[in-house]
Amino acid sequence: MKKPTVTLTDNRSGKSYEYAILEGTRGPSAVDIRTFFADTGMFTYDPGYTSTASCTSKITFIDGAKGELRYRGIPIETLATQHSYLETCYLLLNEHLPNSRELQNFDLEIRHRAYIHESLRLLFDAFPNNAHPMATLSAAVTALASFHKEHLTLDDAADYHTMASRLLAKIPTIAAFAYRHSLGIPLIQPDIDLSFTKNFLTMMRAYPGGKMHLGSNGHEEIREVEVRALDTIFTLHADHEQNASTTVVRGVASTGAHPYVAIAAGISALWGRAHGGANESVIAQLEMIGSADRVETFIARAKDPDDDFRLMGFGHRVYKNFDPRAKILKRLQDELKEELGLNSRLMEIAGRIEEIALSDEYFVSRNLYPNIDFYTGIILTALQIPKNMFTPIFVIGRTVGWITQWIEFKKDPTSKIARPRQLYTGA
Ligand code: ACO
Repeated sequence: MKKPTVTLTDNRSGKSYEYAILEGTRGPSAVDIRTFFADTGMFTYDPGYTSTASCTSKITFIDGAKGELRYRGIPIETLATQHSYLETCYLLLNEHLPNSRELQNFDLEIRHRAYIHESLRLLFDAFPNNAHPMATLSAAVTALASFHKEHLTLDDAADYHTMASRLLAKIPTIAAFAYRHSLGIPLIQPDIDLSFTKNFLTMMRAYPGGKMHLGSNGHEEIREVEVRALDTIFTLHADHEQNASTTVVRGVASTGAHPYVAIAAGISALWGRAHGGANESVIAQLEMIGSADRVETFIARAKDPDDDFRLMGFGHRVYKNFDPRAKILKRLQDELKEELGLNSRLMEIAGRIEEIALSDEYFVSRNLYPNIDFYTGIILTALQIPKNMFTPIFVIGRTVGWITQWIEFKKDPTSKIARPRQLYTGA
């Protein structure tokens, strides 16, 4: 049987060109246009890659119309409610969920590797107090490359594994150090006795010596409910196929640069408000709106084509239905409202925005639904995480996705340097 193809006709010359249609296991097919320029002398034009598949991938599947997300074939709902973040990391990296012994070994390895070189610690002193932790984090991950030069020549599964576990383990420590440095308070070293997520919360909140202070919610210790909430947030951020920062990571990987600088580039790309930086902007926006009765005014601004105000935490390039991660977080928010003492004023404003936007013609006709960033801030605030750490928390969760995509890129024999062309319109 003849393989399916697409025929493109240049209506100027009447010449036709035939291209193979590639089938994935799920989702839209793709037209293989790799020889298009050689065949026709023309480029394809697709700013922002709205119709371009840049690679094949077996990691994450999204059906944006249905609001479906799966890592390695497993629905995000299952992972977020029945598995830990570390299990999810193992799944992404190893293509299967760990058994209890595999999980124990992986967990131990991550705990062991959480410490950073003492000289790298000095780097933090070079940053001004009140530096944004994203700037410090990105710089420190780049600097980490100089401590692990051997990763430049990674070539077997064991090397990939070491690189992955080092980054997974050290990035939370670097993020917590970046935050504490921004406040000018003593850094807290990782604690080998603590789980991944509890360790991070401890590095954020403890006094030297491991003592906790009485939090604003009146609890002295880090509670299991808080660890579970943050662990779920990490899982929901773990991967999201070819988003902007992952595309940057793959782009840097394509040049043969050190893997850590590829991850540092991903961190920088994530910082933007249109991407991971939106979580910080959502809370800032809710605080600016101030009360539920002022929501209408801001909805009107978001709809005004002459006003560049956008409703942060709304809209997504791929989801044209409810972001499934947002659904899980909304449920978590409602479940934990009492236990975590969530900010009821911000929840009321967010609820009113959601209510109006979901029934307003402007938002409905453009398929603008709340995305993951709309709900993370309220939960993170209850965990005593300050706004400038929301995007670093996204980084911690997404690191495993970037690494997994980096490895997939390196193992793919069809990978090439990322080098798009342009339509020149200058002098
Ligand atoms: N508020 C108001 N209008 C919006 C919003 C919004 N948040 N998002 C999109 N629109 C409108 C646009 O103005 C445009 O309207 P038009 O057709 O009348 O010109 C239409 O919806 C399509 O928007 P685009 O910007 O073309 O969509 P794109 O897919 O390029 O952008 C993006 C997606 C960047 C996420 C956008 O929706 C946005 O800026 N949202 C706010 C920031 C945000 O929440 N980002 C987080 C995304 S999730 C993540 O990265 C984890």
